[in-house]
Amino acid sequence: MAEVTLREVTKETVRSVIDLEVAENQSHLVAPNAMSIAEAYFEPKAWFRAIYADDEPVGFIMLADDPDASRYYLWRMMLAEGQQRKGYGRRALELLVDYVRTRPNATEITVGSVPEEGSPQAFYEGFGFVPTGEVHRGEVMLRLEL
Ligand SMILES: CC(C)(COP(=O)(O)OP(=O)(O)OC[C@H]1O[C@@H](n2cnc3c(N)ncnc32)[C@H](O)[C@@H]1OP(=O)(O)O)[C@@H](O)C(=O)NCCC(=O)NCCS
Repeated sequence: MAEVTLREVTKETVRSVIDLEVAENQSHLVAPNAMSIAEAYFEPKAWFRAIYADDEPVGFIMLADDPDASRYYLWRMMLAEGQQRKGYGRRALELLVDYVRTRPNATEITVGSVPEEGSPQAFYEGFGFVPTGEVHRGEVMLRLEL
């Protein structure tokens, strides 16, 4: 498998990251990367990276990184159409967990999953996330204890 890394988005790479899209029938599951980067611009607690397989950008991941609230929320995650189901998502999530473990008061990561066709809930559960029983803004909430 290619080596997966999380890299900062730069002015040289931002267009290639924005060009990464999920399949059309998955567009209800995650916001476009341009939207996520725009939201991050106004949210100082947003921490985001492009997901690379070797030197190719293949996806995007964004965390709400709030040590004051000891709240680490996996805000966005996507692998582009054609780059899914290759193990990149799991590896990228492992790297995100490694990062969160370095942060103050980190005890858990939460994520919300849209409970519709193509839902990524099984992906998160396979990783070790457990449903909390809560539904927030229509999303099923899951938690990973660190
Ligand atoms: C969900 C997503 C991030 C997973 O990344 P990925 O690189 O495709 O996943 P991986 O190849 O690392 O898969 C890891 C495991 O999860 C499983 N899996 C991946 N996506 C799945 C899905 N949507 N439903 C069920 N299982 C899934 C894989 O089969 C694999 O299982 P295995 O280890 O038993 O073989 C990616 O498919 C994606 O971007 N989907 C569309 C957008 C989306 O749903 N984003 C999440 C928003 S919260």
